[in-house]
Amino acid sequence: MREITGAVIEGSGSPVVIEELLLADPGPGEVLVRMTSAGVCHSDLHVRDGHWERQGPVVMGHEGAGIIEEVGPGLDPSAIGRPVALTWLAPCLRCRDCQRGRQWLCQSSPALRHAGLDGTPRVARADGQPVLSYLSIGTMSTAQVVPATAVVPMPDGVPPEVAALIGCGVSTGVGAVVKTAQVAAGDTVAIIGLGGVGLSCVMGALLAGARRIIAVDISRAKIDLAGTLGATHWVHADPANPAATVEAIKTAAGDGGPDFVFEAIGNPVTIAQSVAALPPGGTAVLVGLTRFGQLAQFEPFPFVDGGRRIIGSNYGSAVAAVDFPKYAEFYLAGRLPIDKLIDRRLALAEVEDAFDRLRSGSAARQMIMF
Ligand SMILES: NC(=O)c1ccc[n+]([C@@H]2O[C@H](COP(=O)([O-])OP(=O)(O)OC[C@H]3O[C@@H](n4cnc5c(N)ncnc54)[C@H](O)[C@@H]3O)[C@@H](O)[C@H]2O)c1
Ligand SMILES: [Zn+2]
Ligand SMILES: [Zn+2]
Repeated sequence: MREITGAVIEGSGSPVVIEELLLADPGPGEVLVRMTSAGVCHSDLHVRDGHWERQGPVVMGHEGAGIIEEVGPGLDPSAIGRPVALTWLAPCLRCRDCQRGRQWLCQSSPALRHAGLDGTPRVARADGQPVLSYLSIGTMSTAQVVPATAVVPMPDGVPPEVAALIGCGVSTGVGAVVKTAQVAAGDTVAIIGLGGVGLSCVMGALLAGARRIIAVDISRAKIDLAGTLGATHWVHADPANPAATVEAIKTAAGDGGPDFVFEAIGNPVTIAQSVAALPPGGTAVLVGLTRFGQLAQFEPFPFVDGGRRIIGSNYGSAVAAVDFPKYAEFYLAGRLPIDKLIDRRLALAEVEDAFDRLRSGSAARQMIMF
């Protein structure tokens, strides 16, 4: 048992309170990770703002990196001291999807219980009240006990905040392009929404050899940042005129529209735009997550008549143990400039302020440093 500090919400829709908490020792199949960095992703904001119903109290955060400080009974102690990135969907390794190599679809992941491997919380308040850990990794805390399958060793030279970003934003965005959609060299690509996820789609499109990369956002600063990451064209979206944005995307792409449109917001209006901008044979890749219960619309006739497609991309089809080290190596080789996504480093106590910035749309990726 040790004392930790964590960012806790009572339940979805409640503000974050920084609390002193007690962390259990790692059990069989678990490791204790001292956190070095945690990212502030829009998925955290969906929970914080009550868009997704979640039980509490819960330690927030699902994008993080740290150092292994203890291992549970039976695990190799030589792992102690190793820097790791955390995955928010620790694979069970036993279900049909895990066995088929599709770990991003694992529905038996211990992470879905937001607790330890045995299903009981690893964190408690001083009075003994149990506290959940979001997706079993609750990265907005000084340390956590997590399933051993949630940690992936990082190569030397990868800064903690870069490793943390690989844990969600980078794997989600780069993977959506290179793994889920499998964009080929010479394809044209548009990305609507340039937060940590959309900017990672831009980097992925460059990596894949896309011919035109069209960056779309309501923020001029985000468009400029996308330009430094490889975007070749841009559209400054006016939310009051969605049809004009669709026309501008088509014009920028040429050939009737982009082969792929990535929606990285989770807004029914931009989801509809991502379908409307497609030429015949084009594919809309939905990466952004909507509020629970929200619907989106499109007209089926031209969609079917033109052989268009819509696909959903969860976690960029990531197999963490394989893909995280690969993205880290691309970073070290200068081919994924992940550090450029980071526009603020902050303390754990400033997380509510970071949520305010994210809500306003002015933040790229904000990283908590421990
Ligand atoms: N599929 C997955 O596995 C997965 C993983 C992580 C995050 N997500 C989701 O991806 C989405 C993006 O996450 P993020 O952290 O990058 O968010 P973010 O808030 O940092 O970025 C959203 C961007 O969209 C822009 N935007 C807002 N309205 C717009 C409009 N009408 N037109 C054009 N641009 C607009 C904002 O200016 C901002 O730059 C969220 O819904 C998040 O929950 C999905
Ligand atoms: Zn995330
Ligand atoms: Zn599984």
